[in-house]
Amino acid sequence: MIPSASCFIVLLLVIPLKCSEILAKHRCRNLINQYEPTKSILDKFNASIDGRLLRIRPITAACEGNPVDMNACNFVLSQWTNATWRSDQPGAMQSTNWENSSCIEEFDKIACAQGNIPEFGVNATRYKHVQETIRFANRYNLRLVIKTTGHDYLGRSTAPNSLLLWLHHMKEMTLIKRFQSCSGETITNAIRLMAGVQWGDVYKWLANYNLVAIGGASSTVGAIGGYLQGGGHGPLTRWQGMAVDQVLEFEIVTADGIIRRANECENADLFWALRGGGGGTYGVVLSAILRTYVSPSISAVVSSIQTEHVQDYQRILNEFTQSIRSLSDTYWSGYFYMSDQTLSFALLVPNGNHSENIALYNRLFPYKATSSVTIKSDQYYFASFYDFFRAIMSDTNLTGGKVLLGSRLIPETVVKHQTHLLARTFFQARGITKNQSLLIGHLVAGKQASTKSINTSLNPAWRKALLHMVYSQSLPNEPSNRDFESARLQIHKSVNHLEAIAGDEQSSYMNEADANEVDWQEKYFGPREHYHRLKIIKRNFDPNDLFICKNCVGSEDWTEDLSCRNNK
Ligand SMILES: Cc1cc2nc3c(=O)[nH]c(=O)nc-3n(C[C@H](O)[C@H](O)[C@H](O)COP(=O)(O)OP(=O)(O)OC[C@H]3O[C@@H](n4cnc5c(N)ncnc54)[C@H](O)[C@@H]3O)c2cc1C
Ligand SMILES: *[C@@H]1O[C@H](CO)[C@@H](O)[C@H](O)[C@H]1NC(C)=O
Ligand SMILES: *[C@@H]1O[C@H](CO)[C@@H](O)[C@H](O)[C@H]1NC(C)=O
Ligand SMILES: *[C@@H]1O[C@H](CO)[C@@H](O)[C@H](O)[C@H]1NC(C)=O
Ligand SMILES: *[C@@H]1O[C@H](CO)[C@@H](O)[C@H](O)[C@H]1NC(C)=O
Ligand SMILES: *[C@@H]1O[C@H](CO)[C@@H](O)[C@H](O)[C@H]1NC(C)=O
Ligand SMILES: *[C@@H]1O[C@H](CO)[C@@H](O)[C@H](O)[C@H]1NC(C)=O
Ligand SMILES: *[C@@H]1O[C@H](CO)[C@@H](O)[C@H](O)[C@H]1NC(C)=O
Repeated sequence: MIPSASCFIVLLLVIPLKCSEILAKHRCRNLINQYEPTKSILDKFNASIDGRLLRIRPITAACEGNPVDMNACNFVLSQWTNATWRSDQPGAMQSTNWENSSCIEEFDKIACAQGNIPEFGVNATRYKHVQETIRFANRYNLRLVIKTTGHDYLGRSTAPNSLLLWLHHMKEMTLIKRFQSCSGETITNAIRLMAGVQWGDVYKWLANYNLVAIGGASSTVGAIGGYLQGGGHGPLTRWQGMAVDQVLEFEIVTADGIIRRANECENADLFWALRGGGGGTYGVVLSAILRTYVSPSISAVVSSIQTEHVQDYQRILNEFTQSIRSLSDTYWSGYFYMSDQTLSFALLVPNGNHSENIALYNRLFPYKATSSVTIKSDQYYFASFYDFFRAIMSDTNLTGGKVLLGSRLIPETVVKHQTHLLARTFFQARGITKNQSLLIGHLVAGKQASTKSINTSLNPAWRKALLHMVYSQSLPNEPSNRDFESARLQIHKSVNHLEAIAGDEQSSYMNEADANEVDWQEKYFGPREHYHRLKIIKRNFDPNDLFICKNCVGSEDWTEDLSCRNNK
């Protein structure tokens, strides 16, 4: 609790021994529940944030007690897979393995563990709440965690015994008819989004103006939090570039509690770091200004192909990779899923003449049903992106499972020149339904995602990639250590296959990656110089590592559980 600065003064003056003990203690974060008895400290803090301090319990706590309140408990169970509801809960994550709060019966009563859920949180709505929270966490050397929606696949938005800065209720959106950038460019219809806004909010609101922004595939993912700061891909990124390519300006509170503007002219290094260098690392992003576009019409195809014979399946994957190669010369984009002997996909293309779009698709995807091959295929026309989004992408807001991922970016040259090898790799790396695994292809890179390559900290592998492949492994409800270990191995096995075609620079998308990735610095961030530059920027703005999260820049200086600095 004694700040190290005053400790050094004491050190110079009198008692060197005691001081080193204090410093050693200072190596570790204080646990916030240790402040519970000192109610006055928390009361004072609460007053500084307009009474918005929350005592947080995991959502499972609704099923605690004796007797259990069955209405409350059943309601939580009914919302279990509802991503919208989950994002409204300070005590929930979207993947429940990060909550880690199971319930047990003890002494005739059900008790649910706090698990990885923070003890206290701040329901921030104003800039002042964010600044006061940062000051409080600094002063008492607390573990601070930032959360918008809890979608994080690395569990970066929750931690035991921490203080949660919850940004979910900072919901404003503003249309800026003419935005004058600092470098002199005039952008029409830019939007300013606050930290709590989710992509579903943005798409719905912009539809009123016949506009669209470049965001993710799921309505519940946060617009400017971890998604944007980690790069951001989506159904329109081939058409207009990655989400980070759309940013004109950020507002951020750094570890010193100061609100800063970051754009091409002011704090340019911070502006660079925030566009791809990862969430939760450089400060708390309060708002971002993004470009928008006139909403395109959308032609789409949703299809599912299933075969009885393994040879048929291999042939279909071969045809599919060749089709993808040709289709990728146009703005067609989308998602494909492979497990067992099933291939299913949702593909879309913005603008153009619908009958010509579909004619091209039919030419490139000549699949024929046979006695052993079942094909289901539907073609759609939507007048706007929002119509497409509502109709086709709405299932992506189902969460609440326990899931771990692995991922690799696949270079465009591989898709262009090694289609047979690619098909063979998909076959080997695919999921197994009975093992609750799935291989997911994202045709979201290439075209404008490559050519709009402005100077950002996004892993440069994204600019050469065409596909982002994700292997998703679900875990059983109450996973044992063996289940975790076996999931880790399955992911490793599948990613090993992908590595054979991922080229010299093995890269993973940090937002949809394996939390157990070895050499995550290179895999997530790219060249060493890149990581090095990010670390210098982080040190500059966060010298005391207030913002530390799993596999985030600078986290290698901390112990595995991120509670203490490494001894060096
Ligand atoms: C169902 C689902 C669908 C997805 N779809 C896509 C997709 O289409 N495209 C894609 O690119 N990714 C997608 N993702 C991955 C997504 O990008 C990551 O989960 C990302 O971390 C989500 O960011 P968030 O802010 O919503 O989540 P959170 O879990 O709240 O935060 C993620 C990280 O960012 C930090 N953070 C959050 N807000 C801020 C802030 N304002 N300032 C500083 N740090 C902050 C947190 O501390 C944490 O480290 C999807 C994930 C899920 C679960
Ligand atoms: C998912 O989002 C869509 C809108 O995008 C909404 O209609 C649907 O109710 C949502 N489902 C859940 C479970 O939240
Ligand atoms: C999901 O949660 C949201 C927010 O609480 C709610 O409006 C919606 O009705 C829920 N959807 C379902 C299917 O329960
Ligand atoms: C979940 O909690 C158990 C028991 O405290 C712990 O051993 C385990 O490491 C935790 N798992 C995660 C993913 O945090
Ligand atoms: C957080 O604040 C918002 C806005 O004031 C409020 O609607 C919501 O109920 C609060 N949530 C909690 C858990 O206190
Ligand atoms: C990109 O921006 C960073 C940070 O501002 C800077 O250090 C670097 O020199 C720039 N690189 C190029 C190629 O302009
Ligand atoms: C679309 O293309 C078809 C075939 O080339 C043509 O007949 C039709 O008129 C075009 N439609 C529009 C709206 O241009
Ligand atoms: C399915 O999962 C089990 C248990 O995790 C594993 O032993 C088995 O090898 C998996 N099957 C395949 C074909 O990978």
